[in-house]
Amino acid sequence: MKAVLVCASVSHGNTRRIAEVMGRVLAARVVEPEQIDPAELADHDLVGFGSGIFTGQFHTRLRDFVRSLPEGQRGRAFVFATSGLPELRIRPFTRPLVRQLQGKGFEVTGTFSCRAYDTWLPFKLVGGINKARPDGSDLAAARAFAERLRAGGAGQGE
Ligand SMILES: Cc1cc2nc3c(=O)[nH]c(=O)nc-3n(C[C@H](O)[C@H](O)[C@H](O)COP(=O)(O)O)c2cc1C
Repeated sequence: MKAVLVCASVSHGNTRRIAEVMGRVLAARVVEPEQIDPAELADHDLVGFGSGIFTGQFHTRLRDFVRSLPEGQRGRAFVFATSGLPELRIRPFTRPLVRQLQGKGFEVTGTFSCRAYDTWLPFKLVGGINKARPDGSDLAAARAFAERLRAGGAGQGE
């Protein structure tokens, strides 16, 4: 199985740490959106898309990249995020990206998110929240999530 992870991690490198762990399990490269030609994705069986969450959305560089992809039949994809606040079940922040990828023809087989160091105002005023995260158990959860994907399964991870 050939996999790649497209990751924009701009704030503290939080999402990159999650991506590196998943990438090791999947023997996949981790690239910035600008480092891969959209056409190259067609060569891959599994593509991960991840970033931090900024005012409720994935980073604009990741969203722009997905928007630029041509539509067509594709392989499997998954979405991963780090955020200061938990994802709401009634309005998951992963949902719009999942829908967008499905619209491009991907079969989205998993979503993963975990809490991470967050210095968004007003948290900045108190020195940020989740200072030590992602921690060992977040990385273990990311590893387990990627192992399920490698085994061909689908999944949700927190
Ligand atoms: C300007 C800004 C806006 C943010 N908006 C949100 C948000 O709406 N919801 C949330 O849960 N976290 C929010 N965060 C926290 C980031 O999602 C979190 O720190 C994330 O782990 C950053 O990932 P990165 O280090 O990979 O870029 C925000 C952070 C910044 C700096």
